Amino acid sequence: MVIIALDFENKEKTLNFLKEFNEPLYVKVGMELFYSEGPEIIQSIKALGHKIFLDLKLHDIPNTVKSAMKCLAKLGVDMVNVHAAGGIKMMSEAVHAFDGLEHRPLVIAVTQLTSTSKEMMNNEQGIQGEIIDSVLRYASNALVAGLDGVVCSPLEVAMIKQKLGKDFLTVTPGIRLASTDDDQVRVTTPADARRIGSDFIVVGRPITRSENKVESYHQIRKDFMGE
Ligand code: C5P
Repeated sequence: MVIIALDFENKEKTLNFLKEFNEPLYVKVGMELFYSEGPEIIQSIKALGHKIFLDLKLHDIPNTVKSAMKCLAKLGVDMVNVHAAGGIKMMSEAVHAFDGLEHRPLVIAVTQLTSTSKEMMNNEQGIQGEIIDSVLRYASNALVAGLDGVVCSPLEVAMIKQKLGKDFLTVTPGIRLASTDDDQVRVTTPADARRIGSDFIVVGRPITRSENKVESYHQIRKDFMGE
């Protein structure tokens, strides 16, 4: 599945982008759009028939995360996420917030952000070792807590699948059809992401800033699905 990152600053720009498409999409709404427009933006996008990954990366004490998730449950989104650094209890409460619902969203954990370097992790977070060790530890905690998967770099997918099983979902940003000069340093093509086992790819600028957005989306989708 290809998830389009709607990294727009407001509702108008978001809806103008979505207007170009005549098909149901899977989109990601992040902090910028959600905080600027409020929960109403979710209703507007859902009304157009699109699936939504609400990327708010919750991280607080277990009880607060559970209460916050109960609020998000009312929005009827399809995927939500939390920081694995919040611990197993916090992640487990995040999932339990949806108890009793017929369809709960997929609950995904963020492990180490890709903006975190080994030096920063070692010196500032006080976690020793390599980034991948911490990613695997966090991913394993997420599985124990009952989460469905993790957001990770395409380069981490193989090791996560090997350690935690192929059914544990991986959601991977950092996707480009070819090399570009933006801020994603380690990139993978959609076809390679599929080959290494990514379940969902998150793609923003290669679609949102393209001259022909619909065509770019279809090209990326085709590359990923191997159609
Ligand atoms: O425009 P681009 O394709 O780089 O967008 C990728 C999206 O995935 C952005 O919304 C970005 O915030 C998000 N993301 C990321 N790297 C992570 C986690 C999320 O690029 N590790």
